[in-house]
Amino acid sequence: MELKKVVLIGGSGFVGGWIANRLSEREIRVAIPTRHRDNTKQLILLPTIDMIETDVHDPQALAALLRGADAVINLVGILHDRDSREPYGKNFAAAHVELPTKILAAMRANGVRRLVHMSALKAAADAPSAYLRSKGEGEALVRAAGAEFDVTVFRPSVIFGPGDSFLNTFACLLRFAPVLPLAGATARFQPVYVGDVADVFAACLTDPATFGQTYDLCGPKAYTLRELVSYVGQVTGHRRPLFALPHGLAALQAKLLGLLPNPPMSPDNLRSMQVDNVTDGRQNYPGWNPQPLEAMAPLYLSTIRPRLRFDSYRHRAGR
Ligand SMILES: NC(=O)c1ccc[n+]([C@@H]2O[C@H](COP(=O)([O-])OP(=O)(O)OC[C@H]3O[C@@H](n4cnc5c(N)ncnc54)[C@H](OP(=O)(O)O)[C@@H]3O)[C@@H](O)[C@H]2O)c1
Repeated sequence: MELKKVVLIGGSGFVGGWIANRLSEREIRVAIPTRHRDNTKQLILLPTIDMIETDVHDPQALAALLRGADAVINLVGILHDRDSREPYGKNFAAAHVELPTKILAAMRANGVRRLVHMSALKAAADAPSAYLRSKGEGEALVRAAGAEFDVTVFRPSVIFGPGDSFLNTFACLLRFAPVLPLAGATARFQPVYVGDVADVFAACLTDPATFGQTYDLCGPKAYTLRELVSYVGQVTGHRRPLFALPHGLAALQAKLLGLLPNPPMSPDNLRSMQVDNVTDGRQNYPGWNPQPLEAMAPLYLSTIRPRLRFDSYRHRAGR
């Protein structure tokens, strides 16, 4: 299967930038839809990448985007939805369930067979959080389309790497907070490096052995959240006392943080931590050999220190 054009939906974000780079290196034309073209300057500079300002929720715009495509990758995902209805709110429904349905319809209309879909580890209809329930339903409907389309689904644990919003958020909090009260301190994660995620997305596109398959994407080791935050403090030089919040206080903290414009945590996020975000390794990608956290995270977390110091010099100099 030759790839001339890949449509990378949700490609302007953290993971999408890495996948776009991998495809661009192989000289594949990549069309990336975005709601805000001005925010995607780094990607615009890549050869073979076309940033297209459009509304992927509009079926006609989506069909036009997929015209002439050989494959589609869907990365669209949101972490928060203020609509708290059950089993999930309307924004989770639009991003995680309705959009995949529209993508399949646009593929059908354009005769595109190949779809690589980004789900999330532990996504399921009966999961404790609305995020995971909506992701689970989107994943299920994409898999059910496997008779008609060549579908591959990936289910990552938390993804880390330069520009992540997980370890970097804790690095920022640890810099300013004298102590850190931690919700979900005992929740377990198996962080996976973004470069490894991008590698398998790019590699699977033309590999028929991956059609109809679902893969977990996890790093080599599981950690509690407390261990991860403590590690970030060690690498950035901002070790702080960490306090595991009891459930009631954790729920209150999540509720208050959830009111912020860009919440670092919400009650729904806290609920998602009720299930361990780790794999038993039975659904690993063939030949999966992920980078350890300790090999990759210091490469970008340790540079936070000098950068922040220069920021403070600039601030003091009024620049
Ligand atoms: N990062 C992780 O740790 C992690 C872990 C497990 C699963 N995942 C899944 O991996 C995928 C990519 O994650 P990421 O961290 O790269 O996310 P991200 O940085 O937030 O990027 C997501 C992209 O999707 C687009 N998007 C967001 N909401 C949209 C909406 N309502 N309608 C249309 N487009 C929308 C945005 O594009 P524009 O703003 O340019 O339109 C954005 O660039 C998501 O599906 C996420 O659930 C991520």
